[in-house]
Amino acid sequence: MLHQSHNGVLFNYPISISYNLFYKGSMKKVESSSEQQHVIQAFTELAPQYERKMDSELRLFWGWSYTELIGALLQALPDLNGLRVLDLATGKLVIPKAILSRYPLVKQMVGLDITYRMLQLGKSRLESALPVRLLCASALDLPLENGSFDLVTCALATHHMHGKRLLSDIRRVLAPHGSLVMVDVGVSRAWLNPILRSMISILAFFYFWVKEGISRAWAEASALPNIRTADDWVAALRSASFDEIDLVKLKSRRAWIPDPILIQAKSKGEPE
Ligand SMILES: C[S@@+](CC[C@H](N)C(=O)[O-])C[C@H]1O[C@@H](n2cnc3c(N)ncnc32)[C@H](O)[C@@H]1O
Repeated sequence: MLHQSHNGVLFNYPISISYNLFYKGSMKKVESSSEQQHVIQAFTELAPQYERKMDSELRLFWGWSYTELIGALLQALPDLNGLRVLDLATGKLVIPKAILSRYPLVKQMVGLDITYRMLQLGKSRLESALPVRLLCASALDLPLENGSFDLVTCALATHHMHGKRLLSDIRRVLAPHGSLVMVDVGVSRAWLNPILRSMISILAFFYFWVKEGISRAWAEASALPNIRTADDWVAALRSASFDEIDLVKLKSRRAWIPDPILIQAKSKGEPE
């Protein structure tokens, strides 16, 4: 049960208690891992310049503009008119807005993010008539009914979450044969080497510390263990009961950086 509504955003925890997550009305503390607190702090600070910063980072690391990358995800979507859509880690609502402008007859559009400030700024630019329900909650503890969506999307955020938990919650809220479409960084096997991984973590930490500050540095450096190879994604999707799995490397235009991957899959049969 969601217990607070503020400025049109439903909360899974009271926002007045900054950066702590509390569980569904009972005020029992859950999921306030330091990683999530760093993520919330980092994206709260980044929110006002989010699109500009993301665009320059994606151009630097992948040679893709932010719009091109989100466009790759949007192109992979089926006709969504009449369907129920959930955009996880929706940020400033770029994806819900694009979906609603392409498919005005979407049956339900929900945008969920753990960072209130991202939702708040996204909402302030939304035409009030656009029917998006906003939820401030963790994608690892979705306050949503089983089997209640036909499509789940997620862009540039899986690396902030534990992949298996994320997939199992997505699977739970997807209707039978519902679709999942995600885009994020993927790595090659070489990146799994613990020594290389530690070195990249340290480099990422200092890069983001200098450029963006300490919260973003913690958020990005602690995300590295969550980044998977394409094969790991396929295995994790299979064990979470997805099939019709399709992974496309979007090719980084920088040889030294791992490619972004576009992941599509369908949930099998009945939700568990
Ligand atoms: C790089 S932004 C991507 C935003 C949006 N998907 C887009 O493409 O513009 C990453 C987002 O993931 C959100 N996030 C990270 N961990 C999360 C979690 N456990 N649950 C929900 N949102 C999360 C952050 O708050 C942030 O808004």
